[in-house]
Amino acid sequence: MAVVTDKKTDDLRIIYDSDDEDGGEDIGTTFTTLDIIRMLAGLIIAWCVVSRSFTNHWFYIPGQNSVKKASKVSPEIPTYWSTQELPVSFTLEQLSQYTGQGESGRILLSVKGHVFDVTEGESFYGKWGAYRKFAGTDCSNLFGYHMWDVSALGRKCNHDLSGLSEQEMSRVNSWLEYFKGKYPEVGYLEEDQ
Ligand code: HEM
Repeated sequence: MAVVTDKKTDDLRIIYDSDDEDGGEDIGTTFTTLDIIRMLAGLIIAWCVVSRSFTNHWFYIPGQNSVKKASKVSPEIPTYWSTQELPVSFTLEQLSQYTGQGESGRILLSVKGHVFDVTEGESFYGKWGAYRKFAGTDCSNLFGYHMWDVSALGRKCNHDLSGLSEQEMSRVNSWLEYFKGKYPEVGYLEEDQ
């Protein structure tokens, strides 16, 4: 490999020599400054797409902007709950009736005992949703995993957070804030569940 300057254009060129096995002339691969700029721009755009898909940030910087943030506007309580006194107290058994398949059609999930009505997110938590295992239960332990740790979704749901590290706890808390910002909180999970 050699880095040379093109005398005519002042372009920086990186030249990779290919192995010349049959004694023929070497044909080098050259990258101009423009090529390098293009590659960097491509990488930045690809990172923006990945960031935007997994978070609400256009340019996610690990450690700086943790999980995606929801809107600051308080989520509206659906009319379904207007006849009930809020917050509603749920046992795990009662919560399990709210997976979208029950009589009410509502989907609830609990994070750290805070019960949210996530029916609006049916595409995530409904029958065919990628996160349907969170519906009708409290999977707080799974929110301690990194977003990119897909194995988390195959693990057992649990609301016991006693074994979590400080960092895992902070992830769970970030998710709790996320749900508070996006979905109406309609109740709480009874203690000693
Ligand atoms: C490689 C694995 C994963 C992929 C590809 C993935 C992908 C996604 C995508 C594309 C969204 C939608 C973002 C949006 O609409 O703004 C999302 C949201 C979400 N993800 Fe993941 N995710 C992964 C892992 C996880 C893990 C491990 C958890 C938790 C244990 C998780 C929990 C969630 C939750 C709770 C939401 C928000 C849904 C909502 O807004 O109601 N994800 N994920």
